Amino acid sequence: MTDQTITSVSREHRKFRPSAEFKAQANLGSEAAYKKLYAESVNSPEKFWGRQATEQLVWRKPFTKVLDWKSPHAKWFVGGKLNVSENCLDRHLGTYRENKAALIFEGEPGDVRTITYKQLHFHVCRLAHIFENMGVGAGDRVAIYLPMIPEAVMAMLACARVGAIHTVIFGGFSAEAIKDRINDCKAKLVITADGGWRRGKVIELKANVDKAIEGTPTVQTVIVVKRCGNPVTMVEGRDVWWREAWEGAPNTHKAKAFDSEHPLFILYTSGSTGKPKGVLHTSAGYLLGTKLSAHYVFDLKENDRYFCSADIGWITGHSYVVYGLLANGATIFLYEGAPNQPEADRFWQMIDRHGITILYTAPTAIRAFMRWGDNYVLRHHLTSLRLLGSVGEPINPEAWMWYYNMIGKKRCPIVDTWWQTETGAIMITPLPGITPLKPGSGTWPFFGVVAKVVDEHGKEVPRNTGGKLVLTKPWPSMLRTLWGDDDRYQKAYWSEVPGVYFTGDGARQDKDGYFWIVGRIDDVLNISGHRIGTAEIESALVSHPSVAEAAAVGRPDELKGQSLVVFVTLKSGQTPSDELKEQLRNHVGKEIGSLAKPDHIRFAAGLPKTRSGKIMRRILKEIAGGGAIKGDTTTLEDFSVVASLQQEE
Ligand code: WTA
Repeated sequence: MTDQTITSVSREHRKFRPSAEFKAQANLGSEAAYKKLYAESVNSPEKFWGRQATEQLVWRKPFTKVLDWKSPHAKWFVGGKLNVSENCLDRHLGTYRENKAALIFEGEPGDVRTITYKQLHFHVCRLAHIFENMGVGAGDRVAIYLPMIPEAVMAMLACARVGAIHTVIFGGFSAEAIKDRINDCKAKLVITADGGWRRGKVIELKANVDKAIEGTPTVQTVIVVKRCGNPVTMVEGRDVWWREAWEGAPNTHKAKAFDSEHPLFILYTSGSTGKPKGVLHTSAGYLLGTKLSAHYVFDLKENDRYFCSADIGWITGHSYVVYGLLANGATIFLYEGAPNQPEADRFWQMIDRHGITILYTAPTAIRAFMRWGDNYVLRHHLTSLRLLGSVGEPINPEAWMWYYNMIGKKRCPIVDTWWQTETGAIMITPLPGITPLKPGSGTWPFFGVVAKVVDEHGKEVPRNTGGKLVLTKPWPSMLRTLWGDDDRYQKAYWSEVPGVYFTGDGARQDKDGYFWIVGRIDDVLNISGHRIGTAEIESALVSHPSVAEAAAVGRPDELKGQSLVVFVTLKSGQTPSDELKEQLRNHVGKEIGSLAKPDHIRFAAGLPKTRSGKIMRRILKEIAGGGAIKGDTTTLEDFSVVASLQQEE
């Protein structure tokens, strides 16, 4: 890290205000009301959060103290007891929500299941008994390796019900990755399926688990859901079919109450180096953070049908498929498969067929839809949609505009939500009824969030100057530690600027106070003394009509410090040429300035991405530098992309 601030070069000036119609029906439709609540949430956080916790959650035993903060360790709602699964299910029984759809599931082959709150409760109660009969209870770790099917939600809630700590492992991970995660948290139960559908094929999940648990001494039992009917090997005494275990178990279950700080789950997230970090979230604060943010950010109404395309194996699936939404009594649409199966219009078709009102997806998906072409979208009406969301990386204004015009038909606000596995809940976000939107900006902090952009001394930088994004106050849904490695927790998050939470992201606040994320600090480039976020260069490239996706990385350069190498994938129908390279160079020069003109442009068929869709710039950097690929590549979605990139040069 040099001691310069980040030069931020974005020149986005467009602003989109919520329509009078949206505003009138919004859960928060007045800016004055937001300002008042926000001021209270940061000036008197204990009063604000204490009131919210009392109003929003069902307690078995009231808490006696809102916050016990011994930096960097927080305890929220001290002395209180509750059950998270009761807050997601039982609280809705005996109300008008009892027979409301909790989950509407569509499998990739087209099978549909609707599960009401009452039915979901039955399933979870039965599973809770099964767990207890197996001796799985409070504090035990349970690994969940399932496709996006209702059983994944049931398994998570059943863990919460008996106080077991779940760790969901994304269904795309390999046996090796499963083994590492199980061994790190010493899980004694694994819940999996025979397989899951992806692009018309069966992903053999059980076979991966079998291989993984050859090397996991702690696993005693494996529960197997039958999803695809593919042949599997069942090990006598260890493996049991979900269906068979389920038979005869009672469908009522008296849930025990657990401490506010009882661990709820561990979710492994990859650092750029070293082994994955086991982010630990606990009960009451996490539930409150996800519930409150879902209510305001998604403007949830009783008759919404909400579709979040994130897999349950990511934090977005935990917070905004399961906990935050069920706690609000919402109807959640779950889809098992790929967005282009059988054709690239699957999402739009499902939105029309199920009357989906809210869509929450990721920029990487939006860019893929753009690349596949408008015709897939234009075949469908999309009139049921009223709100769109984005999460996972900065959304480039080009993609934002496409999402707004093509999917939202200029009618739906877009909530560009910035947050992390570690924050548990959305931290920087528009509130759709009030916030004037600027394409590409996450806009304002959510309640209780004090975000600042600071220099390397931890000093706040002036507006419109880039720096590091930090959060200066503890918040209820924050991670509590890294599983088994509190030292790493303190070092990774609380030591860059002592005593404040360092996000790892670079950002800038514009003159109106809007936050713009410019990418991970590790990805910031230093070109001729200017530190520039990769996101801004990529955004400039993607605003060129031929470009589908771009990734910018630095390569050591004697003269400039770093020279700028960009990898570009083109829209369908476009052909690579030297002329186009020159055009792109000039385009970036025009959009940003000549200092950001790429030194090298490489056309590529695909970019290396993590399984959650983030571009792995670390790998591109190694390719650009001509060196070998070092470090962890287990989170890579498709290794063949890397192989072909290496060949191309
Ligand atoms: C990035 C996902 C810009 C950011 C919930 C963050 C974003 C990391 C946005 C966390 C956004 C996420 N705008 N950048 N709206 N949302 N990010 O843990 O770099 O998978 O630090 O959590 O994604 O990724 P994670």
